[in-house]
Amino acid sequence: MTAAETVRGWLRGAKAAHLAGVFTRLGIADLIGAGENTLGALARAGDMAPDRMIRLLRGFTDLGLCAEDEPEVFTLTETGAALGAGGPLYDLVLTSTDPVTERAWSALEAGARSGRGGFYETFGKSIFEYLDGDPEWRERYDRFMGGHTTTIAEEVGEYHDFGRYRTAVDVGGGDGTLLAVLSRRYPRLRGRVFDRADGDFLREVPAGADVYLLKWILHDWPDDDAGTILRTCHAAMPAHGRLLVVERILPERAAPGAPRDPELSDLHMLTVYGGKERTRAEFERLCARAGLAVELVTPLPSGMSLIEAVPV
Ligand SMILES: C[S@@+](CC[C@H](N)C(=O)[O-])C[C@H]1O[C@@H](n2cnc3c(N)ncnc32)[C@H](O)[C@@H]1O
Repeated sequence: MTAAETVRGWLRGAKAAHLAGVFTRLGIADLIGAGENTLGALARAGDMAPDRMIRLLRGFTDLGLCAEDEPEVFTLTETGAALGAGGPLYDLVLTSTDPVTERAWSALEAGARSGRGGFYETFGKSIFEYLDGDPEWRERYDRFMGGHTTTIAEEVGEYHDFGRYRTAVDVGGGDGTLLAVLSRRYPRLRGRVFDRADGDFLREVPAGADVYLLKWILHDWPDDDAGTILRTCHAAMPAHGRLLVVERILPERAAPGAPRDPELSDLHMLTVYGGKERTRAEFERLCARAGLAVELVTPLPSGMSLIEAVPV
């Protein structure tokens, strides 16, 4: 691919993401699915002048979300159907293209300069504080996280034997997807989700469980706070307790075109959360400062890793 093709691909992608967001927010997949598939019907449902709606519909067609089989009559493609309410990509597209997320990304540079991330620079609060004040966003965020988590939870249960534990705490466990999946596989396991509604993991987490789970938690936070979370977990753990961190491990050096874009993921964590992805050595240092030793790191097929740490 030439340099121009590569760069045009990125820039087209940014426009395509806006368009996919509009398609999803207007509920075009559900309207077409319900037979509201003519320009007139779609313009009425979307409360938009037909001469403007047709331009959007043809943009959606250009992306392959729908097809114009007859003039001004649209059918849904498989990709378009995945963006309908309850579809596998619905919450991903809504969350990623939400004007709130887009405003945070437009402050990428300011957020990198301050270290607090674009979200904080734009809204003056963390995304979690923002979600506390917006129950609809919070519900969608939990669904989106839970949807992402299901496959990874199956891997965690397959690659780690939870049969040896009686009790687990999922620290920052969101909608409880991880524990629900693990409990199906290990019915003896008694799990407890601890999230913002239950308390603050920067201060305290429930004590005495055999295993503490931290999935996609540490990368939401800068080193000081991530260290505090590890210390509160350590303080709650019995001597035989074990901590399982599920995160992506950043390579020591960036490689162009690496699968799953670890460096873009790191910038996502900076921009949206003020956090960071970490290398194995960084995880080991962070754990050591909290009195924990990393015993085993298991790569999972999804690209995540299972990091096991025990009290020193
Ligand atoms: C990126 S989500 C991960 C959710 C879940 N572990 C998963 O992987 O699907 C981070 C979670 O941390 C929770 N959280 C953030 N700050 C918290 C705090 N101070 N105390 C407890 N939970 C918190 C959020 O509400 C959210 O559910």
